[in-house]
Amino acid sequence: MSVESLWFDSSRCFVDNEWIAPVNHQYLELYNPSDGSVLCQIARGDSDDVDIAVESASRALNGIWGRTSALERGRILHRMGELVLEKTEQLARIESLDVGKPLTQARADAVALARYLEFYGGAVDKIHGQTIPYLDGYTVYTLREPHGIAGHIIPWNYPMQIIGRSVGAALAMGNVSVLKPAEEACLTALAFADIARQAGLPPGVLNVIPGLGAEAGAALASHPSVNHLSFTGSVGVGKLIQASAADNIVPVTLELGGKSPQLVFADADIDAALPFLVNAGIQNAGQTCSASSRILVHRSVYEQVVDKMAARYTSLRVGPALDDLDVGPLISARQRAIVQSFMDKGDDLTVAARAQVNDQLPGNGFYVSPVLFSDVSANHPLAHEEIFGPVQVIMPFDNDDEAIAIANGTRYGLVASLWTQNGARQMRLARRLRSGQVFINNYGAGGGVELPFGGSGHSGHGREKGFEALYGFSTLKTVAAKHD
Ligand code: NAI
Ligand code: MG
Repeated sequence: MSVESLWFDSSRCFVDNEWIAPVNHQYLELYNPSDGSVLCQIARGDSDDVDIAVESASRALNGIWGRTSALERGRILHRMGELVLEKTEQLARIESLDVGKPLTQARADAVALARYLEFYGGAVDKIHGQTIPYLDGYTVYTLREPHGIAGHIIPWNYPMQIIGRSVGAALAMGNVSVLKPAEEACLTALAFADIARQAGLPPGVLNVIPGLGAEAGAALASHPSVNHLSFTGSVGVGKLIQASAADNIVPVTLELGGKSPQLVFADADIDAALPFLVNAGIQNAGQTCSASSRILVHRSVYEQVVDKMAARYTSLRVGPALDDLDVGPLISARQRAIVQSFMDKGDDLTVAARAQVNDQLPGNGFYVSPVLFSDVSANHPLAHEEIFGPVQVIMPFDNDDEAIAIANGTRYGLVASLWTQNGARQMRLARRLRSGQVFINNYGAGGGVELPFGGSGHSGHGREKGFEALYGFSTLKTVAAKHD
């Protein structure tokens, strides 16, 4: 398999609307997770490349982009969104090859990217300051202004969606961006930069430097000219990013994953819940920040839910991304080893079901067999550590208080859902869940870009998506004029 559909040189960095070789001429290999082959070379950018990108961004901020109206920024974002939609199939195929995700899921990511650009493009001229009644002889008003240079460090699991919610919101508000995609998957980030150029985004407004986290990523996070950091990835690296932000006293948004529960009560419509219970665990092979890896079920319906989920697991089809089955490979041999070691920790647990992996699959692909563990106690490592693979645990509870105690009993707090027909319980428990998003009788609500998203605790802080992201990617200036 190859990436014949690439229309740009994937081994370069994108700076000033040009494709440039990395300063130190170092390169990395990108792998195709579906068969383990080398897909292509990418730049191993480092601090020298980040410096050049930040200088380019700074010129754009102090030049043309700083003078571009909200209306015009919105129009450019709309054009970017239209081009993304035109190229949906190409982008989806590139993402499938690079990330290993089934084509349908990659296609949905491309459509979501376009939708972010459309949403932020349309929202940005509706963000207003205020006039504030004050002392006689004063007129006071507020201006919402960009931070300046935004640094984005993103992971490999949903490159297009994360670019949409992060870079889309930053550019809409008038920031300039330097993007460090993940070394495991960065082709759609590069494709996006070229699409932005084609749509008329001026040089320097968006720069992309691929490379290793400890090199290009650390250089971007610690760069003294960067004014805002947004990061999606592991808790460990999130701490480093927050420390860098502290050094330079810049705001930071962290989205660090979770251990998101779905709570199924005795009065739930179980057949309606079933596809969500399973899909939320195995989508993108479980490599999703908002994956639902814990299923909590009232004891009276517990056996029924275990049996029905198990039946679904045994019918899951695992295979190469372009075959577009239910579950693709994991991103890398390293991620497979991490997930495998978690599965091994479940040796003492009951396996309710394990999906079969076809032995005809390409031998060097990074496949694992999705597994559902039942009767898991809340203090078992698999019940509170993020696995980031197609593994779910299911556990019984006896009453609402116990359900909430288990649900809130991890260090994370990103997403949760309640499956119950009882309106009072829905309202009461939605308040008690420690979670950035709560869904009632659904999970994820289709991922709408309008819905503010982010966590608490080790899931991170700050909000992306919706109007909240536009506030996050801007700062407020108060102007007080004294006059007669
Ligand atoms: P990671 O946190 O190491 O990588 C995410 C991004 O951070 C990549 O672009 C990487 O190059 C960059 N990075 C790494 N070290 C850095 C540093 N010192 N300074 C600046 N940037 C740095 O995550 P990784 O290793 O890919 O996955 C490990 C685990 O992290 C997963 O098993 C999963 O539990 C979690 N994770 C969570 C994600 C989420 O969506 N919340 C996404 C990816 C990983
Ligand atoms: Mg890492």
